[in-house]
Amino acid sequence: MATVDCDLMLRQISRIEEESFSDPWSLDSLWGAMTRDYNLIFFALGNEEKYTIYSFRGGEEITISCLETLDIDEEKRKSKPGEKLLMGYIIATDIADESELLRIAVAEKFKRLGVGKNLMQAYKNELKNHCDKFLLEVRASNIGAKTLYEQLGYKEITIRKDYYSNPKEDACIYSLELGPYYKLDGM
Ligand SMILES: CC(C)(COP(=O)(O)OP(=O)(O)OC[C@H]1O[C@@H](n2cnc3c(N)ncnc32)[C@H](O)[C@@H]1OP(=O)(O)O)[C@@H](O)C(=O)NCCC(=O)NCCS
Repeated sequence: MATVDCDLMLRQISRIEEESFSDPWSLDSLWGAMTRDYNLIFFALGNEEKYTIYSFRGGEEITISCLETLDIDEEKRKSKPGEKLLMGYIIATDIADESELLRIAVAEKFKRLGVGKNLMQAYKNELKNHCDKFLLEVRASNIGAKTLYEQLGYKEITIRKDYYSNPKEDACIYSLELGPYYKLDGM
């Protein structure tokens, strides 16, 4: 049985979408991503003391990945002790041995605490046994996200001119390719 209230999570994702993107996904699109078999959603749920990353496919909880702890002074914490909030999420798709990151966002008050990086690692760990190639696109001006992807080994492979609208902007396409030894090593 799922330990996460999916309706509540989708409403919280919708709020983060609104604050993060100029083209936020609607609740209907989010619901579609939550229930389709070829989509995965990862949630970081908790507070600045500790949080857990859950992943779902086809509306079913498939893994509770890891309990992360954050080393933040008590007086600097913005959430109340015991409070459980959606800190960030990833929506991805995987077809055959390729996966594409469709969405990643972290709630404003939880940024720069490592949540985005941990979500990206949970995403790769979940798929590494059947995906060799991870792709994503990012606005050319999104230095924060690009820095994160580059830190995790993603390489820019091409640019799609004027790909985004509102505002019009180029997309940088990034790829992470895992070699055959990766799977054997279980890294
Ligand atoms: C991109 C995003 C998901 C990063 O999440 P995050 O939890 O804040 O990132 P992390 O704390 O895990 O950052 C890991 C590293 O990435 C880099 N990084 C993250 N945000 C950065 C920023 N704004 N500027 C520069 N580097 C940044 C840093 O190297 C950081 O390590 P450090 O904090 O030790 O310096 C978040 O900023 C976000 O939600 N942005 C809005 C939505 C978005 O742009 N999504 C990407 C669409 S392609």
